[in-house]
Amino acid sequence: MIKVLEKIPETDPLAIPTKHAIIDQVLDFNKNIPGATMVVLSELQSRIGHISIPMQAYVAQKLRVPMSEINGVVSFYSFFTTKPKGKHTMKFCMGTACYVGGTSQLIDKAKQILGIELGQTMPDGSITLEVCRCVGACSQAPVVVVDEDMHGRIPPNKLPQIIKKYQK
Ligand code: FES
Repeated sequence: MIKVLEKIPETDPLAIPTKHAIIDQVLDFNKNIPGATMVVLSELQSRIGHISIPMQAYVAQKLRVPMSEINGVVSFYSFFTTKPKGKHTMKFCMGTACYVGGTSQLIDKAKQILGIELGQTMPDGSITLEVCRCVGACSQAPVVVVDEDMHGRIPPNKLPQIIKKYQK
């Protein structure tokens, strides 16, 4: 058995029966298909919300692939996360038009208001801060995307208003 599976934290999805059942279901359903690793990890990311280290070890064991391979895939693709995300994800567009249009000032403002860094989640689980690539709305630069909502032409002094809306 992979060592990390010997002591699973009680908050880990593997230690929560309903979530463990989903993980087993995803593995059982996909384990024999070609490219199972990627399919299983994508499905777990979307159904559980993240792929913890114990989950990675469990997947490695069940699919009979090295843990390093699973870990390599999870760290390579930015849509995989190892920790749970907040209820809302606030993404700052780092495409050229937005960057030139003031994305860095917006990021600084968000960090200052929320007291967290990019890639981190508020302690109350309300908001996760991230960056993203061009979302195709360059004429609206700088663009901030919160979940499915796009906010364009945002000056830094308008950001507190937007953040407040999602912190409720
Ligand atoms: S550069 Fe931000 S939307 Fe295109």
